[in-house]
Amino acid sequence: MNRRRFLGIGAAVVGTGAIGAFAAPSASRLLAEGRPGRLLSSAVPLPAAFQVPLPLPPVLRPVRSDGTTDYYEITQRTARLEILPGLRTEAWTYGGSFPGPTLAVRAGRQSAVRHRNELPVPSVVHLHGGHTPADSDGYPVDLLLPVGGGGARAAQGTGGTAGMPGMPGMPGTAHPADPSAVLVGRTADGERTYTYPGRQRAATLWYHDHRMGFTGPGVWRGLAGFHLVHDDEEDALPLPRGERDVPLMLADRAFAEDGSFSYPALDATLAVPGVTDDYMTGVLGDVILVNGAPWPRLTVDRARYRLRLLNASNARLYRLELDPQPSGGDALVQIGGDGGLLETPLAHDAVEIAPAERFDVVVDFSRYAPGTTVRLMNRFGSDRTAEVMLFEVSSRTVTDDSAVPERLCTLERLDPAAAVTTRTFGFRRSRDNVWTINNQPYEPGRSLARPALGSTEIWRFFTDVHHPVHLHLNSFQVLSRNRGEPGRYDAGWKDTVDLRPAETMEVLVRFTDYPGTYMMHCHNLEHEDMAMMADFVVE
Ligand code: C2O
Ligand code: CU
Ligand code: CU
Repeated sequence: MNRRRFLGIGAAVVGTGAIGAFAAPSASRLLAEGRPGRLLSSAVPLPAAFQVPLPLPPVLRPVRSDGTTDYYEITQRTARLEILPGLRTEAWTYGGSFPGPTLAVRAGRQSAVRHRNELPVPSVVHLHGGHTPADSDGYPVDLLLPVGGGGARAAQGTGGTAGMPGMPGMPGTAHPADPSAVLVGRTADGERTYTYPGRQRAATLWYHDHRMGFTGPGVWRGLAGFHLVHDDEEDALPLPRGERDVPLMLADRAFAEDGSFSYPALDATLAVPGVTDDYMTGVLGDVILVNGAPWPRLTVDRARYRLRLLNASNARLYRLELDPQPSGGDALVQIGGDGGLLETPLAHDAVEIAPAERFDVVVDFSRYAPGTTVRLMNRFGSDRTAEVMLFEVSSRTVTDDSAVPERLCTLERLDPAAAVTTRTFGFRRSRDNVWTINNQPYEPGRSLARPALGSTEIWRFFTDVHHPVHLHLNSFQVLSRNRGEPGRYDAGWKDTVDLRPAETMEVLVRFTDYPGTYMMHCHNLEHEDMAMMADFVVE
């Protein structure tokens, strides 16, 4: 089977038998593969580090509120941004900025976010970490068509989206086993409202594009933003807040000579998903952006700061460490993870963060002498990608009444004895060079699991190479890594875990509140687009 044909979903009929057996590579070869991805170098000179101030994404205000719901509006559109000094980059944006505007919502209140698509391509919005009913979860074929695209669809008369004239990047979604059955998903014309009930605890979430086959290029071009959930439990703690609560979106990118984002898409018009064979393990850029700015700097008071670290990179893993370390080390005091607060703080010298993971850390800059410059380093990088940003510790005298309490909250522990079943999922590359889960390349509508609503299950993941595994709908708790204790970055509620080469993990997950079809996938976006996804149906 030809990968190109397979990935041209709708153009190819793929029998699952064609995927064939996976030839297990030796453990030593797997470990030798190291971290995924291949570096794509920019064609422009890179700017010096630490020149630009750290931007903060604008916080979106609701257009209105009522007794239960806050209403937001976002227009997805192209924007010419100055990302590298003196160059213009055409980005795909939420509301004209990259990152998109931050939604700051209250737990217990519903948010209704109306998206209008003025992009040249269809889009899908997913709230990552959101506890979301299926029809608002951003299922990859639930396309939001561009404004004005609806007429073409109607004219075609199929109700489907395959082969829509004049609209590059419009995937057809014919069922591989039955090409006459076109899976169109819940397609919307121009505008769609995503409803988030807000039945979840305070946490650092993010929203991003999730279009079938094109999540990698969509996010790379700018479709990502923060969605912060606040609640009373967290607000009652004396954690740093206001200007000292800083979201940091890390993303690597590469730039072409004209300043545009470069991306090794198999098809530049984005009619066919996937990247060229060289980049199949993932696309790494040579420019490190934080909140959309290259290697920025931030002046900080000699006080505690909460840094909400999000790795929004397509494929890059980071090992983040401050340089210099304050004396005594333990500079990064983790207070939360993907799914909100940990029970007790966990101090690290360094934090390893895979794509889509979040680490909420408190750094006490009063541990540094006034005037110290502190670099945030990426110990997994080399040359320019070894640096992330700079903190300049100010010498002004400030007060700081924040603290990191020894006990942050009480976490419910899921009980392995309550698990009704254990399911096993292998994340591997097939002999035919597609990324698969249990040897199956993604096919919308084919589910690999049907957990019962309200039940707890153990899901066991194993891999060939690095795969950051993500589940929609519910956060989970790590039960074991390689049959031993969870790792040092596995604490608390997680929705994404990095499986390292040849590893096995078990997580405990309880499927709550919303029945329907959800996704499990690798969050290396090139792997995701090249079929490493699966549906599960909660019923
Ligand atoms: Cu952030 Cu389905 O993913
Ligand atoms: Cu998600
Ligand atoms: Cu992967």
